[in-house]
Amino acid sequence: MYLLGIESSCDETAASVFTDEPRVLSSVVASQDRFHARFGGVVPEVAARAHLIQIIPVIRQALSEANIRPCDLGAVAVQNRPGLVGSLLVGVSAAKMISLALGVPLVGVDHIEGHVYACQLGASKSIFPCLALIVSGGHTLILDCPSATESKRIGQTRDDAAGEALDKAAAMMGLGFPGGPALDRIAQTGNPNAYDFPMGMPQEGNLDFSFSGLKTALLYTIRKLDHPLSESQKGDLAASFLHTVVKTLVKKCKYALKATGHKRLAVGGGVAVNNLLRNKLGEMTANLGVELILAPPEWCTDNAAMAAVAVEHLRLGRCSPLDLDALPC
Ligand code: KG4
Ligand code: ZN
Repeated sequence: MYLLGIESSCDETAASVFTDEPRVLSSVVASQDRFHARFGGVVPEVAARAHLIQIIPVIRQALSEANIRPCDLGAVAVQNRPGLVGSLLVGVSAAKMISLALGVPLVGVDHIEGHVYACQLGASKSIFPCLALIVSGGHTLILDCPSATESKRIGQTRDDAAGEALDKAAAMMGLGFPGGPALDRIAQTGNPNAYDFPMGMPQEGNLDFSFSGLKTALLYTIRKLDHPLSESQKGDLAASFLHTVVKTLVKKCKYALKATGHKRLAVGGGVAVNNLLRNKLGEMTANLGVELILAPPEWCTDNAAMAAVAVEHLRLGRCSPLDLDALPC
């Protein structure tokens, strides 16, 4: 069976065609960066309007790249929660329209479950049960996942998400939007020990995150320096900041692995493309004898292939009614 997946929870308009194995046949993502760059962040109203412009062309392209027609579809899946409600509504409405027109089941899926399932898409055997770290611009979560369709949050951020902190740090250094990738690039030229930034909530056993103190420490450090910042100062600040974020994420995963006894760690979300994070998690899990499953980089940032978790729901006989809601949290 062929399924169409739709994602519009934040600022990426995405559609994907996958089979019920699941095997991904196409994954199209239209970025909205050009709409938001001049505001320095995602503007919800702008995001919803951009989804409206992009959604039908993106769905058409996903069908065309998979070389199938709409009438070949057996179900439509949409990530209907959590996210910006105006953005979610566009994807949910499109999915309902297709489900109704074709007379095929509609499956609403959780975007976070989708980020975890992106790890499954790159794996040759089941990754469940596992512990999961989902780390993106909107979320920083540790989840206990008995199966693809069940998860319990055991750690989360009390303030900013890790990606949001990286984006804001990049903005403070004048690196533009979206800042995470730019900060990552410049960090590779710097000294990670140049500045001693604090780790939020470092207590052993505490699985929650806080990045606001780290952000403030960066702001005060930048204020004390001569301006404009030199490239080498920017490199040192970026490297020290990124290393502190990565150290925090790795430590919290270590605590959570010890607390739960899980022998697999799945990692997804936009920040999971970061090579330093991937390498440091690799070292930590190797020391603990835990299997590390990293989402393939193309499925770390928001996409619709991860809506393939719908296949697992359909196997359990679950689908959604046509009054499916878009839920912000
Ligand atoms: O998953 P995603 O596309 O969207 C959300 O659900 O938020 O993640 C986007 C986040 C942004 O904060 C971005 O700065 C971060 O992922 N990101 C990175 C890198 N590439 C993207 N962070 C660190 N290093 C990168 N190379
Ligand atoms: Zn996401």
